[in-house]
Amino acid sequence: MKNLTFIFLTLMIISCQSNLEKELKSAKKITVVAHRGASGYLPEHTLPSKVMAHAMNADYIEQDLVLSKDDIPIVIHDILLDDVTNVSEKYPNRKREDGKYYVIDFTFEELKKLEVTERFDSKTGLQIYPNRFPKGVSSFRLHSFQDEIELIQGLNKSTGKNIGIYPEIKKPKFHHENGKDFSKIVLEILTRYGYSSKDDQCILQCFDAQELERIRNELKSKLFLVQLMEFPEQKNLLAFYASYADGIGPWYKHLISSKTTSGFSLTSIVEDAHKLGLVVHPYTFREDSLDEFDSFQQMIDVIIHKAGADGGFTDFPDRMREALESK
Ligand code: G3P
Ligand code: CA
Repeated sequence: MKNLTFIFLTLMIISCQSNLEKELKSAKKITVVAHRGASGYLPEHTLPSKVMAHAMNADYIEQDLVLSKDDIPIVIHDILLDDVTNVSEKYPNRKREDGKYYVIDFTFEELKKLEVTERFDSKTGLQIYPNRFPKGVSSFRLHSFQDEIELIQGLNKSTGKNIGIYPEIKKPKFHHENGKDFSKIVLEILTRYGYSSKDDQCILQCFDAQELERIRNELKSKLFLVQLMEFPEQKNLLAFYASYADGIGPWYKHLISSKTTSGFSLTSIVEDAHKLGLVVHPYTFREDSLDEFDSFQQMIDVIIHKAGADGGFTDFPDRMREALESK
């Protein structure tokens, strides 16, 4: 009888622990980052795509940044204009010897005259995601980082929300080579608009570890910093990243080691990062690019719930919210 009571009590304790773990897991706040805005629905990095992301209650809205000739940070993914604008029609004589058009060769006034469209392959002219907003339709323009901050802060005021910004400094080495201290310019703008500490709704990200480390140690930024990761071998550098950054942004595929008929096996990257106190925000969840997953729900279940990522970048902020809530 004593043995039975002991077994019964042990089972009760295990069951309570497992329920508590489940509750703690479901209570964890998952961060939804609108990748280039609600870019699954409107051309990436346009102001309308940012408004849509705000209306969809993303926690953060992303800005990829590149400098213009007159040192204005422009919200655009690449240092080139070729794949999202009509630059070759508008300024046919402004390409470099490599045949490409660089943001840094144009002033902000010149850039504002370009039409922005859904991303396309500049060699074939075909849009990358065929089922998204049609290429060449309606009218969209490039804008500055300041324009976008003012839009998001204005919407926060008018809606009573507190949605954050998630800027990325693109190609800092390229900017240094062109005589520009890009990070310094971005940090000054952030400070001017009230983003200077980890309590402010701003996460600053960069792929270049040397530059992000410089932002923390030389430029003395106190912002929440996320080290983006491109290659799986970078998992060996987590301790170094933790010496200056607060989080990592790996490609979601680097969280998966294999897929078999019995399911997904995971790498230890999330666990290792968490042990070092780093949050993990993988990129990029796309409903129209599922690769190894059967559904968007499965993608979110595996990367967020099974692997334990703290959030992630998505082109579809509404669908990510739905998938999180349906768990
Ligand atoms: O910054 C996170 C994610 O956006 C990284 O990929 O190439 O879209 O900037 P990319
Ligand atoms: Ca980015």
